[in-house]
Amino acid sequence: MAANREADQSKRRLEVGVERVLIDEVALRARLVEMGTAISAEYVGKDLLLVAVLKGSVLFLADLMRQISIPHEIDFMATSSYGAGATSSGVVRILKDLNKPIEGRHVLIVEDIIDSGNTLAYLMGLLAARNPTSLQIVTLLDKPDRREVDIHVAWTGFSIPNEFVIGYGLDYNERYRNLPYIGVLKPEIYAQSDAGSPVG
Ligand code: IMP
Ligand code: MG
Repeated sequence: MAANREADQSKRRLEVGVERVLIDEVALRARLVEMGTAISAEYVGKDLLLVAVLKGSVLFLADLMRQISIPHEIDFMATSSYGAGATSSGVVRILKDLNKPIEGRHVLIVEDIIDSGNTLAYLMGLLAARNPTSLQIVTLLDKPDRREVDIHVAWTGFSIPNEFVIGYGLDYNERYRNLPYIGVLKPEIYAQSDAGSPVG
């Protein structure tokens, strides 16, 4: 049908700029089943709150929570790092805070990717000061080579090399979030822009 063909073509257009698929849908799904099972076991009988960091982690959250078999709630935070440049500075601005207090609750931060670690180090400090009973991190992706601050990550989906990735929630200039897989962005895409190396 014409409409289907159009949809296919627009999908293909979006994929312009993707150098290669790093983690496909099948691998993502298999890993999320494992992570959901592990998290369910860890928090059984506990008051679990998943705190997702907008916007990159929304697809991960949506799929992960369907693999968590125990009752839980979700909430969202939005942050932006101050300053231009290739890496996040560690000075983080809160664009949206949690809707409810977290004192006495078991909080699990759901992140898309840990790069320098600055964003999460800041968030951990902020949330720890609100006295949750426990505070841990689950991240879909980790770029360990880029770490600047030491943070403990309880669950990591995939450790990846130091390349700029997009898809499955992750963006470059707000685009590519809808790709169903994690792909590597062609370096010439961000080399063209004035900003230099991308900051997600
Ligand atoms: P950090 O504070 O350096 O750990 O920055 C983490 C944030 O940078 C992530 O939450 C992403 O929003 C963004 N980021 C880092 N690396 C990538 C990437 O390869 N693709 C897309 N976004 C990224
Ligand atoms: Mg993020």
